[in-house]
Amino acid sequence: MNNSYEWKPEYSVGNEMLDTQHQQLLQICKDVSGYRCDGSKNSILDFHSILNDLAFYATRHFEAEEELLRRVGYPALESQLSEHAQYNESLVDFLLDAINGKIDRDALEGFLGLWWVKHILLSDMHYCDYVKKLDT
Ligand SMILES: [Fe+2]
Ligand SMILES: [Fe+2]
Repeated sequence: MNNSYEWKPEYSVGNEMLDTQHQQLLQICKDVSGYRCDGSKNSILDFHSILNDLAFYATRHFEAEEELLRRVGYPALESQLSEHAQYNESLVDFLLDAINGKIDRDALEGFLGLWWVKHILLSDMHYCDYVKKLDT
């Protein structure tokens, strides 16, 4: 297991709902880290299931995060929107590859690792002070 995928208090953006969603996404990063494809039908299905989870939980999270940032008038909302859109585009590529039989676990892990560090630990941290005042 990759220790960098363990939740730490300093990852908190100061909002319980968003933190919980980030934790769910971190859990899926862990799933990818522990995933090994042995060529069997089951392991291929597991990879599809991980990608579906990534799409589902990220979509739900982006919607909630964007709604909240709009509500507080976050000035850098546009860059959040474009980084979320980039994530979605990359994930569609992984989904299409998987549908075509390409299971590239290492590429997915590399993508998620970078996304976690560059987006959640860097870009998302910038909105901390804006969402801390809210209850939801
Ligand atoms: Fe986020
Ligand atoms: Fe974000």
